[in-house]
Amino acid sequence: MTITYFGHSCFLIKVGGKQILLDPFITGNPLAEGMDVNSIRCDYIFPSHAHGDHIGDLETVAANNPECTVVGIWELADYYGKKGLKTHPMNKGGWWKFDFGRVKMVNAAHSSSFPDGSYGGEPVGFVFDTPDGVLYFAGDTALTLDMQLLPRICPPIDLAILPIGSNFTLDVHDAVIASDFIQCNRVIGCHYDTFGYIKINHHDAVSTFAAQGKELILMKLGGTLEF
Ligand code: NI
Ligand code: MN
Repeated sequence: MTITYFGHSCFLIKVGGKQILLDPFITGNPLAEGMDVNSIRCDYIFPSHAHGDHIGDLETVAANNPECTVVGIWELADYYGKKGLKTHPMNKGGWWKFDFGRVKMVNAAHSSSFPDGSYGGEPVGFVFDTPDGVLYFAGDTALTLDMQLLPRICPPIDLAILPIGSNFTLDVHDAVIASDFIQCNRVIGCHYDTFGYIKINHHDAVSTFAAQGKELILMKLGGTLEF
């Protein structure tokens, strides 16, 4: 599995010969200047919810990749289906087997509306169970006891992408507890620094995790991680 960071909560995951894009938001991200959204090639887009900082470039990427499938909660898939995009609707619950592995849509504690105010369904996270390992992408979420269910309903999670920027989502302190709940000590942080509301101290964040014997990875923009 290769994970490339495009800033904020946007990651491109290469696994099983496929490319999976999480939460496309690049052109509106002041920190992502110089990243070329038109260079992204993907087979799937998984938006966690309908807020602009998670779907801002979704239609651009979909237009550039006409064969790609948007996988989202029913209302979100329906919204893009009506715009002519190829979609796969899910809802929170069971697994669906894709050609790169299987995926479970799981709870997130947040809100979800499109930038025009229309309803986006509920916010979600995803668990990707792939031949290269199990990845949990939490989306935007607060700390929730539902995270304790994941070790019971999923194979052991090898790596988690958790928001750590506070104000809108988990902060670093709560993300450490989340990593306890999901029983995964290797975390990639996201949803920090992009706006004034979510600026964090990187050193403090990494130390807070390290003090609990956990690893917090703060990826460089455009950087990749092999896993
Ligand atoms: Ni949000
Ligand atoms: Mn957000």
